[in-house]
Amino acid sequence: MTPSYVLVTGGGGFIGSHTVVALQERGLQVIVVDDHSTSSPAALDRVAEVSGVRPLLYSLDLNDRGALNRVFSMHRIDAVIHFAARKAVGESTEIPFEYFDVNIGGTASLLRVMHEHGVHRLVFSSSCSIYGDGAPDGTPLAETAPARPTNPYAWSKWACEQVIAQGCLFHPELRAISLRYFNPVGAHPSGLLGEDPLGEPRNLMPYLMQVAAGQRAQLTVFGQDYPTADGSAVRDYIHVCDVADGHLVALDHLDDIPGHRVINLGTGIGTSVLALRTTTEMVTGRRIPYLLRGRRRGDVAALIADAGRARREWGWQPRHDLTEMCGDAWKFTRANPHGYQALSAV
Ligand code: UD1
Repeated sequence: MTPSYVLVTGGGGFIGSHTVVALQERGLQVIVVDDHSTSSPAALDRVAEVSGVRPLLYSLDLNDRGALNRVFSMHRIDAVIHFAARKAVGESTEIPFEYFDVNIGGTASLLRVMHEHGVHRLVFSSSCSIYGDGAPDGTPLAETAPARPTNPYAWSKWACEQVIAQGCLFHPELRAISLRYFNPVGAHPSGLLGEDPLGEPRNLMPYLMQVAAGQRAQLTVFGQDYPTADGSAVRDYIHVCDVADGHLVALDHLDDIPGHRVINLGTGIGTSVLALRTTTEMVTGRRIPYLLRGRRRGDVAALIADAGRARREWGWQPRHDLTEMCGDAWKFTRANPHGYQALSAV
């Protein structure tokens, strides 16, 4: 019998690569589809090093339906995990149409090809940013909270969920779960796999790491007047290995009920930018100088998960705390001060 695969779009990216490791460690066969526009192909060398298996790789853009069709024609695909997307909030306010094209266009193209090849199982990489400024006072947000995206990135994720939900409505054989991640950070405990922001990091954790490593002089804290305890914005940080594990659990539950389901992946614990800076100083033993600046466009005050649905329905909850998130991110940064590329070029 021909082997069946889990196809992972964006498998070279931060969350994608950790999920590919988790899938392979479970003995599943993986095909990665990635155009490497925001990820390094070297990440898959590390996946092979960590898990002992090199996934099949097709370097293509999801909007290239012909190329995607060929991949689906060549292999028996049992399920798809769809990560491939642009994901920087600030950038999305500058180039919204690129975000719609890559994120929404890519998802529509993927769904169409899946349908044409009789592949009906999908786990989608969604985002808590869909809740927008849903609870500036830090009240945990359940999946039933209204969608209020405040930037094109968040809006594109919301639109993708709608496209998937509509697909499920008119093709009842389609089973889909959208995982709304809060803020995935950290790295694989091996120190081999982590977040490799190409160029200047746009997200907080990689920026903190580069300051701790002495590669950047100081952190800029965006916003000091939020209605939070210390005035800086609050997020629910979750270890990337917990997020990866959440995908495995989602795969197990895809066939529970028909249609499209939404599940938050978060810890339910809020941490401010300034508090994360303090924890990073403690874990790394390095000083993190910082500068207070105005709010970043498109940002919100607080986003904390009500993580109850995953716990109730799947018996699943994250295992790693903030100290481990910082510790593993630091281990990766120290072992790979210039990311994957520099090391693979040595
Ligand atoms: C955003 C999305 C989130 C998505 C993530 C993926 C929102 C509200 N959230 O997370 O759903 O998963 O992108 O990338 O749209 N900050 C600084 N200095 C920095 C960098 C960040 O102060 O140098 C602050 C930001 O202003 C923010 C917090 O740190 O308040 C976290 O920022 P970041 O790590 O970029 O993630 P989000 O924007 O929360």
